[in-house]
Amino acid sequence: MTEAPIGIFDSGYGGLTILHDIELRLPQYDYIYLGDNARAPYGTRSFDVVYDFTLACVRQLFSCGCNLVVLACNTASAKALRTIQQNDLPRINTHKRVLGVIRPTVENIGLYSRTGHVGILATQGTVQSHSYCMEIAKLFPDMKVTEYSAPMWVPLVENGEADGPGADYFVKKYVDNLLKADPQIDLIVLGCTHYPLLYQKIRRYTPPHIRIMAQGDIVADSLALYLDRHPELEQYCSKGGITKFITSENPRKFETLASIFMGRTVKAEHVDICVCGS
Ligand code: DGL
Repeated sequence: MTEAPIGIFDSGYGGLTILHDIELRLPQYDYIYLGDNARAPYGTRSFDVVYDFTLACVRQLFSCGCNLVVLACNTASAKALRTIQQNDLPRINTHKRVLGVIRPTVENIGLYSRTGHVGILATQGTVQSHSYCMEIAKLFPDMKVTEYSAPMWVPLVENGEADGPGADYFVKKYVDNLLKADPQIDLIVLGCTHYPLLYQKIRRYTPPHIRIMAQGDIVADSLALYLDRHPELEQYCSKGGITKFITSENPRKFETLASIFMGRTVKAEHVDICVCGS
């Protein structure tokens, strides 16, 4: 292996919310962010399709040299991570690693709920996988979990409408429906990395006593811990403090929204991702 950036992958812009916190926590490393914007959203797609797309993107990041890839996408973590870790990595390269975002998020849930009633807002794919329910049941068996999908939120973000007045309707609708399903909820987990980009509106329509949990700082802390525990991999993570952005969509379009979301000028390159034969 040779030194290379850490790969950060999402279906689109959502993973930028994770990258932002990872850069703050671990500024010394290089990163390559891959947004598969041409195929987003993933959240409404079947297991097989999400797996094929995710594997193709992981392979793309490996071909850029990455030795460690973070799936900064709950849908991909729910539907593809385990198969990639168990079936694909042993064939592709036994030294490379792929990490997800669900387990570190769940490990923190117990810290933030007093009532033990937790609401998970996520994509249809993540909700249908029941990954959150299953992981929470392992660590916090007494917790009451209500999962609810918010399928319009990702398209709002991907189309640059997160701050637009049209977003209010769908933000209020999904928050109301979740709280109707369990009025005792005192913690809402944003189980999709796109959702923090709607945070202001989600906060506006959520009663103040309910805590809203995003994943960025949790995933960043968990990555820091992982690198500490795995010096054999950490030594192959290059340290120049540079982040490169690649997208399967038009790079100029990506740059416009990514610059807003990252709060700095982002330059991106187009990449063709080959899904066939992954
Ligand atoms: N941001 C992703 C997630 O965390 C996926 C959104 C999508 O493409 O539907 O689930």
